[in-house]
Amino acid sequence: MRSRRSATSLVSQSSLLHLLALLPLVLLLWDVAWGNLSANPYQDLLKRTGSDAMILLLLSLAATPVFIITGFKEARKMRKVLGLYAFLYTAIHVFVYVGLDYAWDWGLIGNEILTKPAPKAGAAAFIILLLLTITSTKGWQKRLKKNWIRLHKWVYVAGVLIMLHFIWVQKSDITRPLLWTALLLLLLSVRIPVIRRWFSQRRSRRITARQRISP
Ligand code: HEM
Repeated sequence: MRSRRSATSLVSQSSLLHLLALLPLVLLLWDVAWGNLSANPYQDLLKRTGSDAMILLLLSLAATPVFIITGFKEARKMRKVLGLYAFLYTAIHVFVYVGLDYAWDWGLIGNEILTKPAPKAGAAAFIILLLLTITSTKGWQKRLKKNWIRLHKWVYVAGVLIMLHFIWVQKSDITRPLLWTALLLLLLSVRIPVIRRWFSQRRSRRITARQRISP
């Protein structure tokens, strides 16, 4: 009975996750369809899809710290789904830039990427996320063995490149990207062995204390 209830709650948790991850896309399509974008629609689309991609990637990176701190096992199961949605929004973001804003003018796009730091950092992050998405299947995990873990650690590099990209695309005030960068560094710091151990020990102590109160 209990296992059936937990399976049902897992299904509803995962449906909720898909709904929440798709919501920004639905709202974006709604605004496109009803002409609710500003006089510079490509910039609107770039800003919205860029922010959505970054937030989903940070949520995916938050899964392990949430597990380390709280012991909430489902968080780790959400990591892959969130990462894949982050790539979906990244792909739309890059499509808006390449296909809509630059009308597939590869000469101009290449020149932008080679000469300006913001598109360069964005393109590097995009290549990393593309590789991680392609190799996210069980088949690739088996094929690459230990190298799979090594490869997927590049998500941290992608995170840093995205923050640089975010800082460099700003025309003036960089408060917002700096706040997101601080959050990324906080999430990554929980993975440092000594900090990770401290949180795990605190969690074990909490569980032992709880067991003593209600044996
Ligand atoms: C080829 C790769 C990429 C290109 C050419 C590119 C291009 C751009 C451009 C032109 C903007 C500026 C929009 C504006 O304010 O006028 C922008 C903003 C942004 N991009 Fe990218 N991008 C790329 C990859 C990425 C990736 C991989 C991510 C994250 C996963 C990302 C996240 C963002 C964010 C967070 C913003 C700022 C949004 C805001 O101001 O709220 N970009 N991008």
